Parts: sequence; structure tokens; C-alpha cells
Amino acid sequence: MARKWAPDSWRGKPIRQVPEYPDESAMETVEKQLRRMPPLVFAGEARNLKRQLGRVAEGQAFVLQGGDCAESFAEFHPDNIRDTFRVLLQMAVVLTFGAALPVVKVGRLAGQFVKPRSEPTETIEGKTLPSYRGDMVNAMEFTEEARTPDPDRLMQGYNQSAATLNLIRAFAQGGYADLHKVHQWNLGFVADSALGERYKDLADRLDETLAFMAACGLTSETTPQIRETDFFTSHEGLLLNYEQAMTRVDSTSGDWYDTSAHLLWIGDRTRQLDGAHVEFMRGIANPLAFKAGPSTDADEMLKLIDILNPGNEPGRLTIISRMGADKVETLLPPLIRAVEAEGKKVVWVCDPMHGNTEKSATGYKTRPVERILEEVKGFFAVHAAEGTHAGGVHFEMTGQDVTECTGGAQAITEANLSDRYHTHCDPRLNAKQALELAFLLAEILKLGRSRDAAKAPGRVRRAN
Ligand code: PEP
Ligand code: CO
Repeated sequence: MARKWAPDSWRGKPIRQVPEYPDESAMETVEKQLRRMPPLVFAGEARNLKRQLGRVAEGQAFVLQGGDCAESFAEFHPDNIRDTFRVLLQMAVVLTFGAALPVVKVGRLAGQFVKPRSEPTETIEGKTLPSYRGDMVNAMEFTEEARTPDPDRLMQGYNQSAATLNLIRAFAQGGYADLHKVHQWNLGFVADSALGERYKDLADRLDETLAFMAACGLTSETTPQIRETDFFTSHEGLLLNYEQAMTRVDSTSGDWYDTSAHLLWIGDRTRQLDGAHVEFMRGIANPLAFKAGPSTDADEMLKLIDILNPGNEPGRLTIISRMGADKVETLLPPLIRAVEAEGKKVVWVCDPMHGNTEKSATGYKTRPVERILEEVKGFFAVHAAEGTHAGGVHFEMTGQDVTECTGGAQAITEANLSDRYHTHCDPRLNAKQALELAFLLAEILKLGRSRDAAKAPGRVRRAN
């Protein structure tokens, strides 16, 4: 029998990555306030995502998860939300063509405000202050005041998430995401480039297909799948005071849901079996994920899978592998084999960002696009060799024309990094780099499709 769970049972467990709040009672006041706020998502939507991820676990769909490393209060602007959303739509169209599979779209947004840090403090010129942990905890500026964790920031994070989600819902369901708009999603700075041309070609083909479908009677009016899209939210469930306050009983099922996002993931630094984060997550009915970095041990991972998904429900659990380009082909196969040997149903997603971070000679945290692509290729090669489904990708990206990752068709160099380096945490792909990766990924998916078709028509997974 599993131990008894309650929304606050994590409080009795060892916890990592917690900010030190100077005033506990101020935090309690904010938690109380948050408990009275409307949920950001509904349980039915989280169940819908779980169903869609269930199809990914069965090899019948693909996940695209992406967005900021850390959302920020300062960069909160409708244009930024729109631009990230539309690059994700563009990428999803490209991938749908490549994979000939439905693409489940999940944003790293509307709640991605809290960051794990390698050090609790930072020292500059002899002065030591708490590390910046994301805008929902403290501010980036290197002053005592800015770096002191402030509970009021939870409220601001909630409000910004609500406003972001409101706009996203309008875009997803109000006509912006209609497939007939596929040409208009071409972003200004992407459109006038070779990549923009390539996207335009694909959009032309899609237009032709839509015209054919309209002739068959399938139009935006008759077919909601053409007119609108499902778009889900996700973030790292790190600040448990916030997550607990957003957790409510769903009246239809009687289950607990964390209503701060559709999907919550556990970071690579907080996935200890007896830790607070695992304890909290196991009790909520949302679809969950955890990050698996190079330190992941297969036996421990199987225990974590059992804790988080004791019913072995497909779609409940996603494993986000983030090994690094040079390690993925050696470290991932033993994990996949362990999962297959135990018959566990999971979705495998590749995060090619967090294992490929380096420091440029000029002192910027950066990631070469080539390494990112290499890890994605390695991830697909491993799944092809194991006969398992490479279920999706997880990118840190933005719709803006930033210069944070090097390389790509724009050939951003280390010297260019300072031009438009705006991230609040890790370096993100800009819109061009993200779309370029989507095209490369579509080619890999297409190759995989023809290989599967040649091997055994209609089958994706290995029979055990
Ligand atoms: C992240 O996704 O921003 C992150 C910190 O990842 P990880 O837990 O894999 O390091
Ligand atoms: Co990050």
C-alpha cells in the first residue's frame, strides 16, 4: 500500500532547491490568497493531455514541448507570447508533415518562473548574495534587496500566468491557429530568408491539401481540428508552496489536480525518491514528467517510475532525457532497456538543451545548435536501434530574434552573443534556429517512417 498522501505531505520530506524566505508568515498569507484564486487549468484538460500523451506512449503521436528557460516579469508582453506561440505552431506543422503523426503541443510557459541553481549563493567582487532563482522567487539584479526571496512574487507569477494563458487560449481557439493561417505565421525576421522560403513551400502544399479537403466537405466550419488546436502548458514544479496552493480536488473524479499547469515536471536536481518533490508529484493526477540526466541510475529510475505511475497508465509519465550530445548514445540505451524489460509505459522525450551548455570565451552561457542537433540525432538513433518510439522533443526557445545559441543557418558566432542576449537563465534557440531544427527533425522523422514501413507495416514498437 502506498503511503498516505496529502497536498502538504511533501513538507515532512527532505527538500532541495528551496529559497530562504525571511518571513514565513508572509508566505503563509500569500498561500492563503492563492488558495482562493481560480484554477489556471481544469482537470478535464489535464486528462485530455494525458490521453494524448498515452497515444505518444503507444507510438502514435509526437510531442513538441518548448518555450522559455525562465519566463520573466520584465519581458511580459503580448507580442512575446504571440511570437513564441506561432513559432511552436510553425514547428508543429513542419513536424506533422515529417512524422505523419499528430503533434501534441506543450508550452514551457504560463508558469515557468522558478529555477534550480547549482549554487545557493553567488559571489561577485567579495560580496555574497542568494542566487537568482527565477522571477517568482527573487530578482536578478545583484543587490541584497533584489535577491531576497519575496512571497509577493508568487502572486505576480500567478497573475502573469493567468494573463498569458488567457491569450494563448484565445490564439488556440479563436481563429489564429486555423491551418488556413499557416502563411501568416511566417515571422518577419524568418520570412525573408532561405528558411522562410522553405516554410512558404510547405505552407503552399498545405494550402493545396486544405483546398482538396474543402472540396471533400472538410472546412474550418465543419472541422474543428482545422480551425483550432489543443495547446497545453507545463513548467518545472519546483516551488512547492505555490504548487500546493494551486492543488484542488476535481469534483468529477474526486482526484487531486495541480491546477497551475496541465503537465508538471520534476527537474534533474530534485528527483530523489524520498524527496519532497517526488512526494508532492505522486499525489496529483496531472500528467507528469521527470528529467533524466547523466547521473540517472536505471534501478533508481524504475523505482521512481513505480512511485509516480504505480498503475502503469500510458500518458501519465514522460521521461525527458537530457544527457548531452556525446553521452546520449551510451547512457540512454540502458535506461530504455530497463523500461522495456519491466514493461513500463512511458513517453520518451529528448531535451537536447541542458546537457549541451557551455561558456563562451566571452563569458556567455551558450549552446551550439550543432550539438543540440547531434543530441536529437543520437536520441533518434538509440530509439531506432532499440525498436522503441522516440516520442518527442523539448526545446528552450523564443519567438524573438535573440543571439543566445551559436551556429545555425544564421551562423551566430561567440562574438555575436552580446548583440541580443536577453535570457533570464539558459540560452534559448531563436525563432530561426528553432524552425531550422524542426525541418531537420522532420527529415529524421520521415526517414524513420520509411524505415518502419519497410520493416513491418503498421508496427512501431518491438514485440517483447
Ligand atoms: C530546465 O528545464 O530549465 C532545467 C533546469 O532542466 P534540468 O532539470 O534538466 O537541469
Ligand atoms: Co533551462
